Amino acid sequence: MIEPINTPRPLDSDTIRRDDLVRFRQQATELGLVVLRIPGIDQGDYALVRTLMESYYGQELSHLRPDIRVADHRQVGLTEPHLEHDPRHKELATSLPEHLRPFPHKGPNPFMRFFWRYGSRPVDTDFPERHADPVIPKRFRNVWATIMNDWGEKISRAGIICARMTEKAFELENRAIQNIMHQGPHLVAPTGCDLITLLAERSQVGGGTIGMMIKTTKDDAALQTLAWRHNWIGLVLSDWHTDFNLFTGHGPSNFPGLLGWTPALDKAFPVRVPPGCFLFQFGEGMEYLSAGKLGEDRIRRGYHQVVVTMDTLRTLKQRLLLGLPPIRVSSTAFFHGNSDQRLAPLPQFRTGDWERRYPPTTFGAYGAEVIKQIGLGASVAS
Ligand SMILES: [Fe+2]
Repeated sequence: MIEPINTPRPLDSDTIRRDDLVRFRQQATELGLVVLRIPGIDQGDYALVRTLMESYYGQELSHLRPDIRVADHRQVGLTEPHLEHDPRHKELATSLPEHLRPFPHKGPNPFMRFFWRYGSRPVDTDFPERHADPVIPKRFRNVWATIMNDWGEKISRAGIICARMTEKAFELENRAIQNIMHQGPHLVAPTGCDLITLLAERSQVGGGTIGMMIKTTKDDAALQTLAWRHNWIGLVLSDWHTDFNLFTGHGPSNFPGLLGWTPALDKAFPVRVPPGCFLFQFGEGMEYLSAGKLGEDRIRRGYHQVVVTMDTLRTLKQRLLLGLPPIRVSSTAFFHGNSDQRLAPLPQFRTGDWERRYPPTTFGAYGAEVIKQIGLGASVAS
């Protein structure tokens, strides 16, 4: 368990304890993530988003397809299952020693994802697809914007705390990260996986049968036997990757299964978000700002993967017995730099051959390249 770091109270105060900043810097550099205790934000508020998303993802795919926005490279609305595929890390994944190697996966990610853009948008931008009009699913039009914006505002406050703590812990200029984030294409990005459907696909047995088999296991040993017989452990829901943003926020998910790796790739661990806390894992953008690979005391991207574990199956059984949907919904939120802002190492990190390793670009151009590589601009399969 990673020991959570306290954040200032009240949230707009700049009074942060010295030892919390030291621990922040240590977690950020060693783990590529930080766990922050943020008492002013009630995680229970996410329950509304989760319940909404369970209903949304529980629909037939044909009802979801109208929410796909290909022209905006799916940067708002739905990403359908079995579409996104990040080919950038395959070689590195297979080069790791066996005990650190991610679970193998071929092809695109099975998850669905909905992007809800929150916060103010720039009037003029070279990257309009990152700031497109929001998509409101028809069936939920009366509640969608209110629920999403309410959570977006809360998670955004948590993200600002993370940015302020980063500035202070790394002795950056006042508001260095917050200014970069101003009007960035921040997203509430809950993913959805219908676990019964995915387990059924792997077992080549009908979903109803799979549900009944799990529900009627007489104890934990029987569930484990079932899992091993059907090769369910390690079924990949989201393949091993890093995020191209500044950092990704996680509150509680309704199912465990998120795994994290240290940036040095010498440890892998299940990611747990303690009650009252938020976890922020740093992405490629923050690594770029600190020229992360050019020195020890800097921030590097954190790798992660989402898979079915025994804990996922235990939760699934409990939920089936309670009559709850078998749909894993993440509480992911993406924090980005402003699309039109320069993306280059901050002055204090410009050492060695930084210009070759981290050539100046813009957040928008960097993001557009990754979005292209991972296939989010692909047309909708019939
Ligand atoms: Fe990710």
